[in-house]
Amino acid sequence: MKRFIFLGPPGAGKGTQADFLSKKLSIEHISTGELLRQEIAAKTTSGEKARLFVESGDLVPDEIVIEILKDHISKIRGAGYILDGFPRNTAQAQSLEEHEIGVDKVILFDIDKETVIKRLSGRLYCPACKKFYHEEYRPPKEDTLCDNCHRALIRRKDDDPESIENRIRVYLEQTHPLIKYYEEQGKLEHIDANKEVDVINQELLERIGR
Ligand code: AP5
Repeated sequence: MKRFIFLGPPGAGKGTQADFLSKKLSIEHISTGELLRQEIAAKTTSGEKARLFVESGDLVPDEIVIEILKDHISKIRGAGYILDGFPRNTAQAQSLEEHEIGVDKVILFDIDKETVIKRLSGRLYCPACKKFYHEEYRPPKEDTLCDNCHRALIRRKDDDPESIENRIRVYLEQTHPLIKYYEEQGKLEHIDANKEVDVINQELLERIGR
């Protein structure tokens, strides 16, 4: 089993790298942000409760996210998983232990705030394929259409300047303490997330792909 957590500020490139690595290693990419966006799009009870938190960049209440994650993870039968965006506070980290959801390594995406803002401000998203692009760093081949399904790309509601600032603040207050939590467990590894996508792809493959 290969079981990883990708930890880091919004826009650090966790989703981009988790997408790449999960395909290379044939393991599951579990993004709680994406699971929540699916619940919101489907207008489920959990989605309706989560919507305003997600749009403003606040954390969705623990009980909602933990329930969604537990349900999703119970269906996984593969060789492992990458948890992208979970846990985001100490209570969520403890819930993994309580539910015996194992973690072998935690990869911390180290990145400057300025780079985060540039990445999130230019991000484009395909609501059908769930694939992310960037106006400058990862432009789609044709104008603003998805390379896979040719649907029009959109901007996430939480990528407006106010929500970005709030997400960074929430990260520093609530998620940052997890660095010490996992350091003390001897599971933390740093990656320089300021580098180019391909360079980080290779570093991750060398360090955790074996
Ligand atoms: P979530 O979807 O997890 O958002 P996030 O953590 O803010 O992370 P992002 O998806 O914004 O960034 P990323 O690090 O994945 O970067 P990406 O690869 O896209 O969560 C959304 C919301 O859901 C939260 O705010 C919260 O409300 C709620 N939520 C989720 N989980 C929760 C939980 N556990 N508890 C409570 N609430 C929860 O890259 C960003 C951009 O940069 C892209 O355009 C990409 O193309 C580009 N890019 C990526 N890497 C590079 C690179 N190396 N060089 C240049 N460009 C790059």
